[in-house]
Amino acid sequence: MKKIKLLLPFIVLSSPAFAADEKAALVMPGEPGLGLTSSELLIVLLLIFTMVLLFVSVTLLNAFKVMYKEQLSPTPYVIIVKEPVLDYDSWLKKRPSKPSIWNKLLSLKPIEEEHNLVIDHSYDGIKELNNPVPAWFNFLFFGTMVFAAGYLFYYHIGGYGDLQDKEYANEIAKAEIEKAAYLEKSANTIDENSVKFDNTAIVLEDGKTIFNTNCVVCHGDKGQGIIGPNLTDEYWIHGGGVSNVFKTIKYGVPAKGMISWEKNLNPKQISAVSNYILSLNGTNPPGAKAKQGEKYEDKDVEDSEMKEVADSVTKTDVSKK
Ligand code: HEC
Repeated sequence: MKKIKLLLPFIVLSSPAFAADEKAALVMPGEPGLGLTSSELLIVLLLIFTMVLLFVSVTLLNAFKVMYKEQLSPTPYVIIVKEPVLDYDSWLKKRPSKPSIWNKLLSLKPIEEEHNLVIDHSYDGIKELNNPVPAWFNFLFFGTMVFAAGYLFYYHIGGYGDLQDKEYANEIAKAEIEKAAYLEKSANTIDENSVKFDNTAIVLEDGKTIFNTNCVVCHGDKGQGIIGPNLTDEYWIHGGGVSNVFKTIKYGVPAKGMISWEKNLNPKQISAVSNYILSLNGTNPPGAKAKQGEKYEDKDVEDSEMKEVADSVTKTDVSKK
């Protein structure tokens, strides 16, 4: 039966080749449809009919077989046996006692089975039970082994995780970035109240560059004064000292021709150029402009002084964050 079923598609498939041959021989009777000649169609129909016939015959054969068997030895009817109704106590006894999940987890044994656990010795009549290791304990114990294997593979064999040294280096790198960001931020939040006197070389260098690009036109290349006043003497129109100078530069004196630099320079730059100007004090350049304003004496220069500072952020500054 199965073999015939398998054969059928082959026969159907081979029919186009058949048709091609016929075309070549130029024997072309009418085309009834499906691209098949009438003789091919007939063959296919006959095949289908044979298949159906085969199927029906096999089914009938099986049916007859069953009937024949039944006649030789008929299957007896099922006899339903009535079970006697149990009272509660006998039902309880019959019921298989299943340990609860809790008992399983703690590996507790029912009291009836305790006699199996007694170890064969006693001290002053006290006997010992050989209780099994609880399941939860075993779970933890073997769990640590599985964990250790995973850990070993992840960190040491596979090298997927970072070891302590690498983690430390990563943390330091991260902190370094954060510190740089903090320094940048704190530098840009300087104002006339928080600005500090700072004569470190880097700051003065920065200040000089800023002064040379922005200020020389009015104050002279050495701060001797042209349109603007002399910045190298002890006399100040708007007060000396780092915070006064910072304030003058930041807000300017627009009415007198000194513009506000707030928009063109950031606070860090203003602070640098202020410190640079203070460093010019007493240089006495040739052709210096006559003194203007009042002599300025910084009473609390000690307070605002920051002479030897390698890092402008102190530890307390960082921890404040
Ligand atoms: C357009 C010319 C001009 C430029 C550019 C200029 N200034 Fe001035 N500056 C002046 C004038 C004018 C004054 C005097 C203001 C007054 O009389 O109140 C002054 C005053 C000052 C003072 C106050 C001096 C005092 O005696 O109190 C400081 C400090 C100062 N300038 C710094 C700077 C710095 C720093 C720059 C560059 C970033 C700069 N100035 C650029 C014209 C200029």
